[in-house]
Amino acid sequence: MKTLAIDVFPCRSDNFGVLLHDPDSGLTASIDAPEEAPIVAAAEARGWTITHIFTTHHHTDHVDANLALKERYGCEIIGPVNEAVAIPGLDRTVADGDEFLFGEHPVRVYETPGHTAGHVCYSFPEDKLLFAADTLFALGCGRLFERPAADMWHSLQKLCVLPDETAIYFGHEYTLSNARFAITIDPDNEVLQRRLRQIEELRAEGKFTIPTMMGLEKETNPFLRVADPAIRRNLLMEGASNEEVFAEIRKRKDNFK
Ligand SMILES: [Fe+2]
Repeated sequence: MKTLAIDVFPCRSDNFGVLLHDPDSGLTASIDAPEEAPIVAAAEARGWTITHIFTTHHHTDHVDANLALKERYGCEIIGPVNEAVAIPGLDRTVADGDEFLFGEHPVRVYETPGHTAGHVCYSFPEDKLLFAADTLFALGCGRLFERPAADMWHSLQKLCVLPDETAIYFGHEYTLSNARFAITIDPDNEVLQRRLRQIEELRAEGKFTIPTMMGLEKETNPFLRVADPAIRRNLLMEGASNEEVFAEIRKRKDNFK
């Protein structure tokens, strides 16, 4: 079984387009469909024909090109059952724990309510890939539009069972702002300090920070580190529940400039 090929490119103002190609079967999936022109351009540059769209959630900046791509390629659109009515052109629904094959590559679906009520992430366990969209970002997590903090906390915990070597592709380039916030929560974390400097350099050169790795996120992402004693001391929340600490960090991020 050959390795899956991945092409990542900017769409809209700060979204990522992601194409995933299986050289054995010839299948190509667009992870979400933020914008038609850059997705088509990327596919044509690689000589790939889009056969699938894996939709993570219903927000416009993730489904805007669904119908245009479906018309152009006749691709099958897969998306979360709990947002089925809001996803244009949806052909097949998936729910928590569903498993299917992309070519011969196993895919597992995780429902991760929080950012939206029905958001799903797609994991390729044998390829050690996770497409997390607006649930888990490099050094951050999605804003809570449709579900409370406790739900998002439990969603992130589900993803944390994945191996440290899992490469995580996320929906937006928010990493510099996330890093500057993270250091206010976890100022003595030396891995985070080094990572902040690397991110500042990358962004100054106009480079993107995608993908990240699960192991690195567990070491540096404050939303995954709410049990850390130093973070709890810093927040004066040593006796609080994990959900309460998570909610406080999310609230502070919402107000961070
Ligand atoms: Fe979103």
